[in-house]
Amino acid sequence: MDTGMDTSGLAIAIMAAGKGTRLKSKRPKVLHEIGGQALLLHVIAAAKAIIPADRILCIIGHEAERVRSAVEATGVRFVLQAEQRGTGHALQQVKAYLSDQAAASLPDNLLVLSGDVPLIRPETLAAVCETHLREHASMTILTAVPADPTGYGRVLRVAERSAEVTAIVEQKALTAEQMSAPEINSGIYCFRTTSLFSKLDQLSNDNAHGELYLTDVAAMLVASGERVVAVKADSVDEVLGANTIAEMMHLDAAMRFEKAKRLMAQGVTILRPDTCVIDAAVEVGSDTVLEPFVQLLGATRIGSDCRIRSFSVVQNSTLGDGVLLRNGCILDGAQVAAGALIGPYAHLRPESEIGEGAHVGNFCETKKVRLGKGSKANHLSYLGDAEIGGGVNIGAGAITCNYDGAHKHLTTIGDGAFIGSDSTLVAPVTVGAGAYVAAGSCITETVPAESLALGRSRQITKPGWVAARQAAGKTK
Ligand code: UD1
Ligand code: CA
Repeated sequence: MDTGMDTSGLAIAIMAAGKGTRLKSKRPKVLHEIGGQALLLHVIAAAKAIIPADRILCIIGHEAERVRSAVEATGVRFVLQAEQRGTGHALQQVKAYLSDQAAASLPDNLLVLSGDVPLIRPETLAAVCETHLREHASMTILTAVPADPTGYGRVLRVAERSAEVTAIVEQKALTAEQMSAPEINSGIYCFRTTSLFSKLDQLSNDNAHGELYLTDVAAMLVASGERVVAVKADSVDEVLGANTIAEMMHLDAAMRFEKAKRLMAQGVTILRPDTCVIDAAVEVGSDTVLEPFVQLLGATRIGSDCRIRSFSVVQNSTLGDGVLLRNGCILDGAQVAAGALIGPYAHLRPESEIGEGAHVGNFCETKKVRLGKGSKANHLSYLGDAEIGGGVNIGAGAITCNYDGAHKHLTTIGDGAFIGSDSTLVAPVTVGAGAYVAAGSCITETVPAESLALGRSRQITKPGWVAARQAAGKTK
């Protein structure tokens, strides 16, 4: 993002070492997901919109290796906080890390973000930095006034209309009269690096949690005559933290609601947006209609003029233009070309490539299969490990037997072939172009092009059998 701001002297530190005790979860807090993506990845994305990844320091500690491997593809650097003794202690590790580097590389200003405040927008971060520079502040605190401030640290201003702050007071340390203080600390700050570093070693853990609070730095700077200011965020949601599953789901809903609004602004119709689950990275083309209770997850891309009927779940899949997904389809890692008709109740598993205008109907399952242009498998089929040409008709209940108990084998079906209902094609096997397989066949050998294969026992018919049986005295 080009904010027009001079960010050359800026580095970012993201606090992500905490356990997240209040979540009561085995997963580290910053790896819990909203909008289908880890909290920390949202924060890193906002940071990367401001400055390059190599100037972003991620403070990790609790389950450090798990957190590192989940986010290292972003290119950020990592600082270890082996023991988690509070947010002030987290920044002490950054001080130690940066002090080991060449003095010239010490950033003038350090923007500190919380790994559990995921809806923060780059525009707001830029505004914090701009205020910080304009105000010549030693510390600039991003704040908000939510409906219920309970649980947050409170920012106390010199006077209501003053930008200047006297202190941040944590919830548990609030006096009776401070209890109603409405302005919360977001856990996002910009510091003059030297000012921050001059105070970190003086922090004390004499408080309700026995931790080193980064928030105490505010009053310490004020006491030495330095300027500490606050700037309010435009929207409250973007500075809310996620300490409990309920708070996390509140943010998830807020993020998905924004996502749905953005898609609708781009010409997508979402019939009941509150019932749909759409991940942050999903793309949908204009004039596509999403019916109620649709889930679009992961790296899914849907073309224009599609209709996704209710109860379909589409994950990491691509749909071309004009695709109709009837009710109850499950797609995972599938590619569906333009104009295809899928479902109802089709299951397209990884590496399914469904050709232009093809049909995959009721209770069909596909996996690692290429189904050519205009081909149809409309009822009750399993198609796995198969190369199927164009204009092929797969009859009801036809199945590729791809697995021999040890290995998977390929079935190849040429253009225009007709596979009769209830056929089993025992792979490896080939059916040539234009060939016919009779219904109920078990095909184990190559069927040459343009030929007919029958692989079933001959029918025996006994005329008058019922009457003969009755005459023999058997009534049933
Ligand atoms: C913190 C603030 C509080 C503010 C709130 C906003 C302090 C003392 N309090 O409280 O004023 O209103 O955020 O959301 O800072 N972390 C570490 N190492 C640690 C401890 C925490 O990296 O040793 C990380 C956590 O992973 C988390 C962030 O710092 O991402 C904030 O920690 P958390 O314990 O959630 O602080 P809050 O109690 O929410
Ligand atoms: Ca928090």
